[in-house]
Amino acid sequence: MRKAKSDAASTASQAVVELTDVKKIYSMGDAEVQALRGVSFKVEQGEFISIMGPSGSGKSTCMNMIGCLDRPTSGVVKIDGRETHLMNETELAVLRNKTIGFVFQQYHLIPSMTVIENVMLPLKYKRFPREDRYELARAALKKVGLENRENHRPNELSGGQKQRVAIARAIIAEPKIILADEPTGALDTKTGIQVMDLFREINKTGTTIIIVTHDPGIGKSTERCIKILDGLLC
Ligand SMILES: Nc1ncnc2c1ncn2[C@@H]1O[C@H](COP(=O)(O)OP(=O)(O)O)[C@@H](O)[C@H]1O
Ligand SMILES: [Mg+2]
Repeated sequence: MRKAKSDAASTASQAVVELTDVKKIYSMGDAEVQALRGVSFKVEQGEFISIMGPSGSGKSTCMNMIGCLDRPTSGVVKIDGRETHLMNETELAVLRNKTIGFVFQQYHLIPSMTVIENVMLPLKYKRFPREDRYELARAALKKVGLENRENHRPNELSGGQKQRVAIARAIIAEPKIILADEPTGALDTKTGIQVMDLFREINKTGTTIIIVTHDPGIGKSTERCIKILDGLLC
């Protein structure tokens, strides 16, 4: 059972994410892009934060570092107390599956699968028995208010509903951290607010939430906002 936020806070002071002087240079032929130019910050267990900056400022690159989807050119990325540069690809994949749930702007649902099959997918990779997967997926869909849509396909849902399915898929394995890259970017303002309210609810159960956004309104709605510009925090 997950701890309530107040309990989680009392055992806190443990950073679940810690970046120290992280640099990322993309090389494209002769040209180099310095996407991150020395970024350092910590996120404590149970925080609800945003990383905000304009297009091209390095937000997605930063998210890829935290999500262990890519490695920095230099600097240290610690996730859940582990220094990721000391880990091989298999170890990183295990850490990622165990610790992080991802949410993307374009939902990344599998169109040929039903809603409940999409939500169950992370547990399939973890080799949970099918019956358990089904029950847990139903519970996750209930948490996002979509229990009556389990046999629909993604293209039968609105944008907001698709994002709720993606959030159910992100929380099903009870990750410590949810990383969301522009999760409201494809939604109208009202639906975006509802999705942010849902993240807030999930955060209350102790899950650390990191939202990447270009939208100052979203930035303001989180407990702490880290601002990034041209690959540097500001
Ligand atoms: N795979 C890549 N190859 C080369 N350049 C990239 C790559 N990904 C991002 N960039 C560049 O790095 C900078 C930061 O990009 P990104 O992290 O995607 O910013 P944001 O998410 O804030 O829009 C931009 O100049 C972008 O063009
Ligand atoms: Mg981006």
